[in-house]
Amino acid sequence: MKKILVIGSTGQIGSELTAELRARYGGDNVVAGYILGAEPKGELAAGGPSAVADVTNGEQLAAIVKEHNIDAIYNLAALLSVVAEQKPRLAWKIGIDGLWNVLEVARENNCAVFTPSSIGSFGPNTPHELTPQDTIQRPRTIYGVSKVTTELLSDYYHTKYGVDTRSVRFPGLISYVTPPGGGTTDYAVDIFYAAVRGEKFICPIAEGTRMDMMYMPDALRAAIELMEADPAKLIHRNGFNVTAMSFPPEKIYAEIKKRVPDFEIEYQVDPLKQAIAESWPDSLDDTAAREEWGWRPNFGIGAMTRDMLEKLSAKLLNK
Ligand code: SER
Repeated sequence: MKKILVIGSTGQIGSELTAELRARYGGDNVVAGYILGAEPKGELAAGGPSAVADVTNGEQLAAIVKEHNIDAIYNLAALLSVVAEQKPRLAWKIGIDGLWNVLEVARENNCAVFTPSSIGSFGPNTPHELTPQDTIQRPRTIYGVSKVTTELLSDYYHTKYGVDTRSVRFPGLISYVTPPGGGTTDYAVDIFYAAVRGEKFICPIAEGTRMDMMYMPDALRAAIELMEADPAKLIHRNGFNVTAMSFPPEKIYAEIKKRVPDFEIEYQVDPLKQAIAESWPDSLDDTAAREEWGWRPNFGIGAMTRDMLEKLSAKLLNK
């Protein structure tokens, strides 16, 4: 990879992934793609080139790829699970019509493509405990339907046209930088904001509901290491199960309370989020990622909680 385009560079993953890619490959070699209304600011704007890159506009993507001589695209444009249920047509337009544009541009210009899949690609009849790499994927959310389609279409472009497509199924991602918007796993980020602000946390997910999670530094490494992996070793491509931890709300609450003793939680379960959460795995088996490209997470629940509280306190309280 010499020249990279990040589509969705100001979003939950993109804002941090763009900075990490620039640190590794040089600021000038990573173009921050954004849509109008979500312009890069601060470091993201200053650290390298940027361009309007609307995933629904194939001609615009092709022009950027040609102008900057792009050879790898990180395609991070998506709506998260809850908001996608409210806007299913838009979720499909961005997730799948957009992916089609990206894959076509990649085919014509010989680019590698990374597009995240998710634990949302699984459904109620998927085995929930140690969910295997290859298993039943019959999700009932439009988010999940678009993620399964993402995996299939990306595999199709690889086998039919030789496009170097790669993907991971991200679990819930936890970060103190850019908050997620409209996902089912957002509570695992929101709970830290409540703890640091000294507020009671109103939890939309019921006790006992386990989901896979990952701290953002591990997620960024997963994406980059998969894209750098030796293709000869990849049996799978789109997408690999990856996980770092799996917990229900009461476990992350207890972990935070060790360090914030006055912290309180109250459960007000959101029926839509709860139904989605219950349809997703309780814990993923990421053996294939470990064996095929050496995946290993660095952060478990304890290390993640310590780092989150420290960094989020610095961000919210020292302004
Ligand atoms: N974090 C995502 C969501 O909750 C799952 O991939 O929608």
